Amino acid sequence: MRIDMRSDTVTKPTEAMRKAMYEAEVGDDNPREDPTVLKLEEMAAERLGKEAAILVTSGTQGNQVAILSQTGRGDEIIVEAESHIVMLEGAAHAVLAGVQPRQVPGKRGVMNPDDVRAAIRPFIDPHYPKTAMICVENTHNFHGGCIVPQDNLKALREIAQEKGIRMHMDGARVFNAAIASGIPASEITQYVDTVQVCFTKGLGAPVGSILAGDAETINTARHWRKRLGGTLRQAGIVAAPMVVALNEMVDRLAEDHANAKFLAEGLANIEGIDIDASQIDTNMVYFKVSKEGMTEMDLLVACYHEGVLGGMLAPGSIRFVTHKDVNREEIQQALQVVSRLMKEKVTAS
Ligand SMILES: Cc1ncc(COP(=O)(O)O)c(C=O)c1O
Repeated sequence: MRIDMRSDTVTKPTEAMRKAMYEAEVGDDNPREDPTVLKLEEMAAERLGKEAAILVTSGTQGNQVAILSQTGRGDEIIVEAESHIVMLEGAAHAVLAGVQPRQVPGKRGVMNPDDVRAAIRPFIDPHYPKTAMICVENTHNFHGGCIVPQDNLKALREIAQEKGIRMHMDGARVFNAAIASGIPASEITQYVDTVQVCFTKGLGAPVGSILAGDAETINTARHWRKRLGGTLRQAGIVAAPMVVALNEMVDRLAEDHANAKFLAEGLANIEGIDIDASQIDTNMVYFKVSKEGMTEMDLLVACYHEGVLGGMLAPGSIRFVTHKDVNREEIQQALQVVSRLMKEKVTAS
């Protein structure tokens, strides 16, 4: 048995994706001659309500190209304290763009607009870096796949406009937010200048992300992508499964969300597991172990030996992520394993 809930990044391409790759009409994407890439970029821009879009190799590259395209060296970017950009991208914002992050702690991944306003530098004194950008993450990974509410995005947008600074969304899982909330992705992204969307997570494509925004910014992004070595040649091979993902894989995310809820409710019924199932917005389930003499690491390792794979982004909580390659029956099996291990009171040592 192998039930892999370490992340939704473990999803494998579907038959339709593999077929689309095989049959893809391709050209050289450097001079923009790949028809499949052009089609994908047009479709993605429309779905995200933006003028233009660019294919990038990964979510990290999309976020970094967005930062590089809209900031200058020595600028400051405002990020939620535990956002992917600052926690898990190898300090690329510092190494590549030369920007400094200002980490604003959020509640369930949501930054208080007053805190954001207070963090923006007045730039009346050379001591200060210039605040160039507000970055939001939706859904928020470290905070349990939470959805950032529309009124929060609107409030942050108003501040950004008033201060004349840019707003970027790390929307790696923005389609999860759209499906779970019933709000079209284009309405969620209306508050940001640029949005990065991953196709390799719940959507199941093997490679690729999209960065969308206004035409001028995306044009600048083309230069930065080139500098980062991200401009591919017959990239239709990569774009074709992304087109399939947009057409066929977005609506089914609802199934992953229902499975996450089912998993969380099941875990809540196991003695010694600490979880509030009402806090599950999308496909991520974080929980703690509250049993004397047993740690999260003990349970994670014991689960691993039983073929139930989870992850630990930070010490003190286990993360299970639901996705298309784990079905309801497997989630039931995983719950049985956790229930048994909790009774056995396992230790990793
Ligand atoms: C919120 C978020 N942003 C960005 C990324 C980076 O995506 P990639 O792994 O494609 O670089 C991830 C990856 O898990 C993510 O969860």
